Amino acid sequence: MRAITVSEFGPPSVLVPAEVATPSPGPGQVLIEVTGAGVGPWDTKMRQGLFGPQDFPYVPGAEVSGLVTALGDASTTFTIGEPVFGRTGFFGGYAEYAVVGADGLTQAPGGLDLEAAGAVPIGAGTAIEGLDDHLHVAAGDSVLVAGAAGGVGLFVVQIAKARGARVVATASPGNDEFLRNLGANEVLDYHGDWVERARGVDAAFDCVGGPTWDGCLQAVRDGGRAVTIITSPGPPSGRDAVTVSSFSASITAERLAAAARLIDEGSVRVEIQERIPLDEAARAHEIVEGDHMRGKLVLIPG
Ligand SMILES: NC(=O)c1ccc[n+]([C@@H]2O[C@H](COP(=O)([O-])OP(=O)(O)OC[C@H]3O[C@@H](n4cnc5c(N)ncnc54)[C@H](OP(=O)(O)O)[C@@H]3O)[C@@H](O)[C@H]2O)c1
Repeated sequence: MRAITVSEFGPPSVLVPAEVATPSPGPGQVLIEVTGAGVGPWDTKMRQGLFGPQDFPYVPGAEVSGLVTALGDASTTFTIGEPVFGRTGFFGGYAEYAVVGADGLTQAPGGLDLEAAGAVPIGAGTAIEGLDDHLHVAAGDSVLVAGAAGGVGLFVVQIAKARGARVVATASPGNDEFLRNLGANEVLDYHGDWVERARGVDAAFDCVGGPTWDGCLQAVRDGGRAVTIITSPGPPSGRDAVTVSSFSASITAERLAAAARLIDEGSVRVEIQERIPLDEAARAHEIVEGDHMRGKLVLIPG
C-alpha cells in the first residue's frame, strides 16, 4: 500500500511516500481503508523528535476516517464496509490502510463527508474532554477560548456554545468573521489587550501555551476554572482562587460518538482549510508549522 514514511527526525522533507506492507489488525483492532487522515501539530512535533525517541521507519498519522475492511477478531462490533472515524495512537494514519483499536473508533457522522471525518477525532475529542471533564462548562458560563481558530479551538468554540456557554475567542483579526460564524459571541485580537477585555470569565480553555496561558489565568474570575492542552501548567500562577489543570487527551469511542452526535445535530461544523493528496504530506506539515491554521488539514490517499 501507499504510505508516508519517516526514517529520521528532521524537516518536513523527511516525510517520504513509499510502498509498504499493508498492516494486519490484531485482537480488538480493525483495518480501515483510509479516506481522510487528519494532520496536526502533534504530527509535526513527533517528526521533529520532540516526543522523544521513536522506532524508524514509522508511518505518522494519529487520526483517520474510512471504511472497515477487516476485523482482527470477533470482539469488535464493527461490520465490513462500515464508515468509521477514530484515533490510531499517533502512528499509521498517513496511509491507504490503517489499523485502529476499537476503543478509539466509532461510526462516522452521517452528516459529514467521509474525508472530512478524518480531521475530527483529536480536535473534537480534546475539546469535549477539556470542556466537560476539566472546565465542567454549563449553560450560562462564559468561556474564554485562546487559539480559537486552529484545529482544536474550532471545536472548543462550537462545543462550548452547544453546552450553552457564552464564548469569548482570541484570534488575529482576519479570523474574526470565521469565529463569529462558528458561534463566538466576542472575538478578541490576541495582539492587543485581550486579557483586560476578557477579565471576569468563568473559565478559560488554552490552546496556545506560554504567555497566553498566563493571560488566561489572569482573565478568569476568582473561583473560576482554567485548562491548558500545552504540556504542564508550570509554576504557581499566583491565582490560587482559580482551579487549574492540564491534560493529554484520551480520545475514546464514547467521546467520538458524542462528537458525531454534535455534528449530526448541526451543532458542530468541520472547517477544512485544505484537502491535500497523501503524497504531499510534507507540504501539509509546512502549513501546520506556519502556525496560522484556520480549521483543519486532511490528507487524502488515492
Ligand atoms: N494536550 C493534548 O492532548 C493536545 C491535543 C491536541 C492538540 N494539542 C496541542 O494544542 C495546540 C493547538 O493545536 P491545534 O491543532 O489547534 O493547532 P493549530 O491548528 O496549528 O493552531 C493554529 C492556530 O493558533 C492560532 N494562534 C497562534 N498563536 C496564537 C496566540 N498567541 N493567541 C491566539 N491564537 C493563536 C493561530 O491563529 P492566527 O492565524 O490568527 O495567528 C491559528 O489559528 C498544539 O500545540 C497541539 O500540539 C494538545
